[in-house]
Amino acid sequence: MNNFRFYSPTEFVFGKDEEKNVGELLKHYGATKVLLHYGGGSIKRSGLYDRVIESMREMNIDYVEQGGVRPNPIDTDVYEGLTLCRDENVDFILAVGGGSVIDSAKAIAAGVPYEGDFWDFFDRKATVKEALPVATILTIPAAGSEGSAATVITKADEGLKRGSGSQLLRPKFSIINPELTYTLPMWHTAAGIVDMMSHIFERYISKTKDVILTDRLCESTLITIMEAARTILKEPKNYQARATLCWAGTIAHNGSLGVGREEEWTTHGLEHELSALYDMTHGAGLAIMFPAYMKYTLDEDVERYYQLATKAFGVPANHFHKKDVALEGIRRLENFFKELGMPIRLNETEAKKEDMPKLLNTLKRNMGESFGTFKTLTLKEAEKIYELAWE
Ligand code: NZQ
Ligand code: ZN
Repeated sequence: MNNFRFYSPTEFVFGKDEEKNVGELLKHYGATKVLLHYGGGSIKRSGLYDRVIESMREMNIDYVEQGGVRPNPIDTDVYEGLTLCRDENVDFILAVGGGSVIDSAKAIAAGVPYEGDFWDFFDRKATVKEALPVATILTIPAAGSEGSAATVITKADEGLKRGSGSQLLRPKFSIINPELTYTLPMWHTAAGIVDMMSHIFERYISKTKDVILTDRLCESTLITIMEAARTILKEPKNYQARATLCWAGTIAHNGSLGVGREEEWTTHGLEHELSALYDMTHGAGLAIMFPAYMKYTLDEDVERYYQLATKAFGVPANHFHKKDVALEGIRRLENFFKELGMPIRLNETEAKKEDMPKLLNTLKRNMGESFGTFKTLTLKEAEKIYELAWE
């Protein structure tokens, strides 16, 4: 196990009706003027918006609002939010929605006290030294942004989707009421499940030795997510299964499963090019790219994939045919993604083969000529992984 620091200052407020306490929590954390940030309208249709406003009014908390954040959030919405926050002297941002809304809120939070262009943080020209406090009310278990230090934004005119991060961007508090996820369409429920599992794979597929505790935590979280997912496929309003997924999505990405080990993140990089170019749902892109990445890197460490197959996907152990067992694990993962209704090949999506140079060009701008920790990959090898993902 490597040395590590683990910092997770977010207060998680979990359970039924907890969104009604948002006004009190905002007051406790010192908010006086709030930016209420949300997406394309699901929170209005579900009545959550009204409950949030009522709770803030009860506590006499002043607010302005900016809705309309779209999935795969873009820089132009961030600029709009920055101007609003500065004009209105906002001192706290409340994101109500999923990863897209939360990431947009974090980018605004970092940008408000910064004199330059907020994109400098994503261009690696500057690091966040100060930020407005952010809090969240989560409506979809997926990206894990409610507990993470990261934000992912797309620069719309260049089609560049990039991540940035700072411990200062971890939410002060995140309210997670599993009942709020009942209104999710199955597509987004499924994409969220793939995303949280992928956050675990990015940590699990590692060269670091002797990380037995986090290995076991990763494996059992994966098993638990798959069990809960299968319950939800049959019973979308099963509270316990929704609650399980909500907390699994948070711990999959708040850092606790990655402590003491080298993490990977190449597959996320490969996927971000798809969601940047085609506006593909992040989880759907991962359902395609993770099996391809796993097949391509299998020989790098068959033992690791054998362990994943036997411990998480229930493939019977066979010490004489470890590679076959490992491959069967990847097949079971693909079948699970199919069961969820996710695509598992690029030819099931709007992706076009002739776009490969575009994908590789932005990948190079984002990740450089070579990347990866579990296996160092060149752009040529990345191209092979996209090809493996094709059909
Ligand atoms: O916009 P609204 O109307 O709210 O609809 C959303 C959106 O269309 C809908 N939705 C959310 N909650 C709902 C609901 N519909 C009905 N009922 C509800 N309760 O779901 C759609 C998807 O929402 P989005 O926020 O885009 O989903 P997600 O949480 O998967 O976030 C995806 C974004 O997060 C980034 C991804 O790249 C992508 O841009 N990521 C952020 C990370 C981070 N900050 O740590 C890590 C991740 O790996 C990921 O890259
Ligand atoms: Zn992700």
